[in-house]
Amino acid sequence: MHTEFKMQDHNDKHNLSKKEKALARLAEMNKEAELGGGEKRIAAQHKKGKLTARERINLLFDKGTFQEIGKFVRHRETAFGLEDEHYLGDGVVTGYGKINGRMTYVFSQDFTVFGGSLSESHAEKICKIMDLAMKNGAPVIGLNDSGGARIQEGVKSLGGYADVFYRNTIASGVVPQLSAIMGPCAGGAVYSPAITDFIMMVEDTSYMFVTGPNVVKTVTQETVSAEELGGASTHSTKSGVTHFSCANEVECIENIKKLLSYIPQNCEEDAPIYPYEVQADESRVALDDIIPENANQPYDIRDVMNGVLDEDSFFEVHKDYAENIVVGFGRLAGRSIGIVGNQPAVLAGVLDINASNKAARFVRFCDAFNVPLLVFEDVPGFLPGTDQEWNGIISNGAKLLYAFCEATVPRVTVITRKAYGGAYDVMNSKHIGADMNFAWPTAEIAVMGAKGAAEIIFRKEIAEAEKPEEKLQEKVDEYTETFANPYRAAYRGFIDEVIEPKDTRQKLMMAFEMLEQKVDKLPKKKHGNIPL
Ligand code: HXC
Repeated sequence: MHTEFKMQDHNDKHNLSKKEKALARLAEMNKEAELGGGEKRIAAQHKKGKLTARERINLLFDKGTFQEIGKFVRHRETAFGLEDEHYLGDGVVTGYGKINGRMTYVFSQDFTVFGGSLSESHAEKICKIMDLAMKNGAPVIGLNDSGGARIQEGVKSLGGYADVFYRNTIASGVVPQLSAIMGPCAGGAVYSPAITDFIMMVEDTSYMFVTGPNVVKTVTQETVSAEELGGASTHSTKSGVTHFSCANEVECIENIKKLLSYIPQNCEEDAPIYPYEVQADESRVALDDIIPENANQPYDIRDVMNGVLDEDSFFEVHKDYAENIVVGFGRLAGRSIGIVGNQPAVLAGVLDINASNKAARFVRFCDAFNVPLLVFEDVPGFLPGTDQEWNGIISNGAKLLYAFCEATVPRVTVITRKAYGGAYDVMNSKHIGADMNFAWPTAEIAVMGAKGAAEIIFRKEIAEAEKPEEKLQEKVDEYTETFANPYRAAYRGFIDEVIEPKDTRQKLMMAFEMLEQKVDKLPKKKHGNIPL
């Protein structure tokens, strides 16, 4: 805080040459900047179980590659005694470096300086690296740990936030943006991470909310803790705001690195390819035993995903939210793909509002960043009920439909079992632009389940029958025989091939290789109008 005075003192004592004085001054200033808010506040940060902004950066980047930008930036505020209270760097460490050899930009908020709060200068530092990232086509990672707007700066701070929000939006779909929440993130500050592609939160030490527990108490009389209102577990299960809930900061940073390994540097590039030697026999016999004998028995779609993908390559996103649909990244012969699958083990894999939103956002990310899409389908339809209808299953379900329709990346679907009703269309059907559609022999592609169908179309016949129950069963069997299979769809070419489960991996490897050079363009427009 008193660099100039201290240096004078130091230089007088040692009678150094001009060059030595200059070097000593620089060393002193570097040391001061690296201490942030000072030893005491660093100790307090550690006591809370949190790392400092610089420790996080050290964990994130390949050793020795991080280059800091704006280390000596200071705030310009003079109100409330801030004239004399300066910290070099102004509460945020910004720069670039390599993560697993790939260029990445970062800003890491330093809670030891004014609680990591965002001043005009602090915002300018963030904007500078975002501008560089966009011009040079590399991901931006935000490590958030901040008390929000720097209260002493008033509207200058609010303007700084808006400058960041604006860049988050303009950068969306240009370079990947990842946010880690490693402390407080409250008020309007939440809207920067919210616009980014993926959010990670650290359990017990981070929270996000628009209004904190005190305001909630005043306005709604609810008593709720910060953790309950906006902690990692709340946002990974109830709201879906965060895609990953991490046990600690180290796990959080590992997850960031892992996620980056599946995605490209920018929208013009492809994700990195990992070395893979194709085997003479890529069949996976275990896949033959996954679908239960009884079509109403659940199974875990992750068994299908793991059975098809390269070993240990599946990386699930949004794991604890809307579990009736599973999304994540994986690799097939070393190439990155985005996977979406209905989950028969939860709510029979039905599509509801949350599942539609979760999958739609994932599909749009993959499409924006050239990650091919693989869909596993086993869906009985959309979830009925007043709750769903009144909360807008119509417009929310339409988001998923829209997201698939406009996706131009290679798209492949495998129907493992049920493909009923509108959900058949929505889940990456041939009709909405899928490139290759496979079905297992256990697929049932129909307007609805056999019992419901028989009750409607044979109502009169069943009612007039001597034994209505027997008649119903007869009609159910007839309908099942006719429709509960993949062949009617295959006769029409809506299914390209009916395949044995064990051959799925080989078929997909070939299909994605065939689609590698796919070029598909949407008609010229300003932008579409997805039903938000
Ligand atoms: C300036 C701040 C600050 C802020 C914290 N500090 N928040 N300084 N502006 N927003 C300072 C404190 O004065 C303190 O300084 C140091 O940071 C650490 O704060 P503590 O309160 O001691 O830490 P802790 O007990 O861990 O509490 C953290 C906290 C609390 C919950 C974040 O500090 C807090 O409630 N801060 C205010 C939050 C807030 O209302 N922000 C504005 C929200 S509105 P010393 O010198 O003691 O170390 C907003 C609008 C954004 O952000 C709009 C965008 C559109």
